[in-house]
Amino acid sequence: MKKNSRIYIAGHSGLVGSAFVRKFRELGYTNLILKKHSELDLLNQGEVEEFFRNEKPEYVVDAAAKVGGIKVNSDEPATFFYENMQIEQNLIWSAYRNHVKKFLFLGSACMYPKECPQPMREEMILTNLPEITNEGYALAKICGQRLCSYIYKQFNADFITAIPANAYGIGDNFDPERSHVIPALLYKHIKAKENNDKEVVLWGTGKALREFIETDDLADAGIFLMNNYSGEEPVNIGTGEEVSIIELSNIIKKITGYQGNIIMDTSKPDGMKRRICDTTKIRKMGWESTISLEQGIKKLYDWYTNVYELRR
Ligand SMILES: NC(=O)c1ccc[n+]([C@@H]2O[C@H](COP(=O)([O-])OP(=O)(O)OC[C@H]3O[C@@H](n4cnc5c(N)ncnc54)[C@H](OP(=O)(O)O)[C@@H]3O)[C@@H](O)[C@H]2O)c1
Repeated sequence: MKKNSRIYIAGHSGLVGSAFVRKFRELGYTNLILKKHSELDLLNQGEVEEFFRNEKPEYVVDAAAKVGGIKVNSDEPATFFYENMQIEQNLIWSAYRNHVKKFLFLGSACMYPKECPQPMREEMILTNLPEITNEGYALAKICGQRLCSYIYKQFNADFITAIPANAYGIGDNFDPERSHVIPALLYKHIKAKENNDKEVVLWGTGKALREFIETDDLADAGIFLMNNYSGEEPVNIGTGEEVSIIELSNIIKKITGYQGNIIMDTSKPDGMKRRICDTTKIRKMGWESTISLEQGIKKLYDWYTNVYELRR
């Protein structure tokens, strides 16, 4: 990509899309095309086709999706399947028809089977069934990846897929009903400190292992792939750093300055014991994560106190 290439970031207002905007700007890319949901509804094929014909983006990052937690995913599988299929198909097909030079589709680790050997390697997609609670979302994401790889094979067009680990970062949602693991734990510790609570209670044994990537790191990896990778196989994006829930809580406790105790409620489930993306492929290409978990969480904590709290 040249610094003045026309680059469209679909979903630029979201957690991941906004990190791509920050990273492209930081790297000196000057010609970003951004359209609000109210200006371009990606569910509408006619609007999407017209947008590509008029704006002629050369490069596309697809960070637009209908995203949600376990409850809403399991209550509304039809909506999650339909909307994500529709957004992907409209974007990917119009991008192909309008000669986009490179298309980066963002998948999700939930595309891997529920019973996947760990760490999860790219070729393990579709070797078994995904987790039932978000099956509609996962199947739609798998279809998006496959459509990109078919386009790559059939038309020799450079449509690639990246599969990021769990992401966290600036712009995260701290609503206890809807937040992901890191903002949820941060919020619990912040509130416990404010209320002088003696303890913070967490679900499970705390031994489950997870991997998280800060969104600026994720965007850096995505742009790296756009500049350095062509192929029909997806590529995992992660830090290669595994952390147990109790270790994560201790990092958060230190950053927030909470003085009480962390209590594990072992009557509650742990979820999967270990769920980690194998990042051998991207590391062999020469990309390494540069933001440690501690640095990333400190950055998110600062953003929470300086921006998020003041906005409410
Ligand atoms: N968050 C993670 O941990 C994570 C990890 C791995 C991969 N990913 C992938 O990254 C992508 C983005 O996730 P995210 O967490 O950034 O989600 P997000 O914060 O909910 O952002 C989704 C974006 O898509 C836009 N969008 C949704 N429906 C649209 C439509 N019909 N027309 C136009 N725009 C629409 C949203 O705009 P509005 O808000 O205005 O509707 C928003 O900008 C997803 O594909 C996800 O699978 C995320």
